[in-house]
Amino acid sequence: MQALAAPGHFVLTFDDPETAHDARPGHFIAVAATTPANAGSSILRKPFSIFTVDREAGLCTVLFSVYGPTTSTMALYKPGDKLDFLGPLGGRVFDADPHADVHHVMVGGGYGVPPLNFLAKTIKAANPRAKVTLIYGARSANFLVGDEGLREVGVEIVACTDDGSLGVKGKVTDGLAPLLSENIAVYTCGPTPMMRAVAELCTANHKPCQVSMETPMPCGIGICVGCVLKKADGTFSRTCTDGPVYPATEVTWQ
Ligand SMILES: Cc1cc2nc3c(=O)[nH]c(=O)nc-3n(C[C@H](O)[C@H](O)[C@H](O)COP(=O)(O)OP(=O)(O)OC[C@H]3O[C@@H](n4cnc5c(N)ncnc54)[C@H](O)[C@@H]3O)c2cc1C
Ligand code: FES
Repeated sequence: MQALAAPGHFVLTFDDPETAHDARPGHFIAVAATTPANAGSSILRKPFSIFTVDREAGLCTVLFSVYGPTTSTMALYKPGDKLDFLGPLGGRVFDADPHADVHHVMVGGGYGVPPLNFLAKTIKAANPRAKVTLIYGARSANFLVGDEGLREVGVEIVACTDDGSLGVKGKVTDGLAPLLSENIAVYTCGPTPMMRAVAELCTANHKPCQVSMETPMPCGIGICVGCVLKKADGTFSRTCTDGPVYPATEVTWQ
């Protein structure tokens, strides 16, 4: 367990060669984290995006912030503790735009950044010459998380902070706006209002955009129908098994 500089944020490393081998950017795990001390406080598993994988070592990480019983318990894990999880889960994950000349732009906020980090590294590993940018935002510089290892592989980073303490003073859409004249493919994950703003900006400017939905997921495996998304064509979709990633044009924002 590694505590990050951002208050209440941690990176949890777990050892599972199968997950490390199978996980793709956008996949998540569903964690049950209860201890005798908080038994019964959370009966549902909670989803966490895969942040990094080390396929040779068989290791994966998730980056999380502490909210309630699951994340409070995860923050207490010690080396050697057993992580109770299902995964990797998710049906449709991020699909890197195949065009060689496209500029891949990741737009994230909060715990939406980890799967974008995974995607950015995956794109650069497949093609070191690919142009990849991460635009990420937070209320102030000390809450920016999830950019670990990206500069080292040549990903350009644009920070956006509400208070102007680092980078662009404003929202991630302010960081995205100057790139809209380029040949870009956008991938976004973060709080729903942020994703909605990014998706609407991309749609208005005819830019392809994939969104990873953060719907509550009570089971994560397609059984409970507690994660349903109403799509633009009027049909319904389970975000856990049909998503969590969708083309922005398929999503209705309620
Ligand atoms: C596909 C997917 C991937 C996810 N990936 C990550 C990840 O990589 N890292 C991560 O930290 N989280 C991630 N989440 C969110 C995480 O699953 C929830 O925050 C989870 O509910 C936390 O469980 P808990 O038991 O600690 O808190 P809960 O008991 O579920 O929540 C406690 C309280 O905090 C509120 N709350 C919960 N989450 C938030 C939030 N995000 N913002 C504000 N208030 C909140 C609840 O409404 C509740 O009142 C992801 C969610 C989805 C759907
Ligand atoms: S979370 Fe249960 S069906 Fe999707």
